[in-house]
Amino acid sequence: MRKEVFLSDVASVRSIVRATGFFTEEEIQMAGELVETYLQQGEQSGYRFLFLEEEGRVVGYACFGEISCTNHRYDLYWIAVDPKEQGKGLGRKILEETESEIRSLGGQKVYIETSSRPRYLPTRQFYLARGYVVDAQLKDFYNWGDDKVIFSRTLMEAPRIEEKPVGRTRPTKIRKVAVSSRKGI
Ligand SMILES: CC(C)(COP(=O)(O)OP(=O)(O)OC[C@H]1O[C@@H](n2cnc3c(N)ncnc32)[C@H](O)[C@@H]1OP(=O)(O)O)[C@@H](O)C(=O)NCCC(=O)NCCS
Repeated sequence: MRKEVFLSDVASVRSIVRATGFFTEEEIQMAGELVETYLQQGEQSGYRFLFLEEEGRVVGYACFGEISCTNHRYDLYWIAVDPKEQGKGLGRKILEETESEIRSLGGQKVYIETSSRPRYLPTRQFYLARGYVVDAQLKDFYNWGDDKVIFSRTLMEAPRIEEKPVGRTRPTKIRKVAVSSRKGI
């Protein structure tokens, strides 16, 4: 697994994403553009990558980044494994390593968006198997009958917030009694 990004990754990413058969040509181009953006801007791009290699060949990868204006929430933008290598635990390995990397960067929650189409059922099952929960489903987001399903996983528990008393409290009652008793004097 490597974090460094090489020029050759632009082609590797497009090749893997295309081979999955899950994505449109526009999405395939976009996946490569994210790598190009990183090569130009580095971490300023907001994207980070993890590549899984076998015998010098990229067989899977993940692209993730911190979501701006949030308290260390991260988006997993892409995860894909070469179809010839799927179902062997490589996706799990990439996702676990990505989460570990996000944790080390101080990340607290991870969000993933995917489609509700039947074609993406294995992908949704993959996320559920990895401890993700469905946080929201935006109806007809991508197209009619094609919802956006938002998964999340908490990496760091929320800090305890001290409960403040709500409703009428005793001091108010005591004050009232004090006022009426003064009136009686
Ligand atoms: C989703 C994807 C990354 C998973 O990678 P993978 O290497 O095939 O997955 P793994 O072999 O590591 O499986 C990990 C877990 O998911 C579960 N899983 C994977 N595919 C599944 C399927 N088709 N049905 C049910 N569960 C599945 C496995 O049971 C496994 O659980 P376990 O570890 O508890 O046994 C890969 O299938 C892929 O590239 N899909 C196409 C692209 C895509 O949809 N990307 C995500 C959208 S950006």
